[in-house]
Amino acid sequence: MKIDIISVVPELLDGPFSHSILKRAKEKGLLEVNVYNLRKFTEYKHGQIDDYQFGGGAGMVMMPEPLANAIETLQKDTTYDEVIYMTPDGERFKQQTANLLSLKNNILIICGHYKGIDDRIRQHFVTREISIGDYVLSGGELAAAVVTDAIGRLIPGVLNDETSALTDSFQDDLLAPPVYTRPADFRDWKVPEILLCGDPKKIGEWRHEQSLLRTKERRPDLLS
Ligand code: ADE
Repeated sequence: MKIDIISVVPELLDGPFSHSILKRAKEKGLLEVNVYNLRKFTEYKHGQIDDYQFGGGAGMVMMPEPLANAIETLQKDTTYDEVIYMTPDGERFKQQTANLLSLKNNILIICGHYKGIDDRIRQHFVTREISIGDYVLSGGELAAAVVTDAIGRLIPGVLNDETSALTDSFQDDLLAPPVYTRPADFRDWKVPEILLCGDPKKIGEWRHEQSLLRTKERRPDLLS
């Protein structure tokens, strides 16, 4: 899978994909992430990419030409399955969307800044708008990193057995059960006895019960 990202602050995305699981995904050739600097696609002086909004009001808006130029230039080499705009007024990002996007071949992500991007770009190029939560970030880059991470780890072959995504929270609309590791007795705080019994069926049932309990307590909305 290839994820291309258009950004005015590409430096913000230097770190997130260079470690751990996503790094391994890239090394295995399962994931390619490219970050493109929007300023390279503007024909305005001094790399200008934003301007005052029509109708007045505080805050700049990202101009349509540099964005259209960037998107169309990238589209010459790649057919994108999705052109995603990161925005707080988009659909709330959920595990289900991550699952769905992890099956695509090519994704383009546009990171907004300031008041956002000119709406004509949203109308004519964007196929999906995603918010990572009900709060406003200073730009779409961190949100794009969150989405890329959530998608990247689901690409077939990226996770091995120990890190399998099947038992993640949200995969079956339940939160994950509590987990424990050695030592079985730490400061007289003991691991639940059942986890030491060696019976996978009993352990599976206990985990499912714990998942239900946690979900009921913390996220009852997921059960309804
Ligand atoms: N850009 C700014 N805030 C955002 C959010 N909450 N989700 C996605 N993109 C954003």
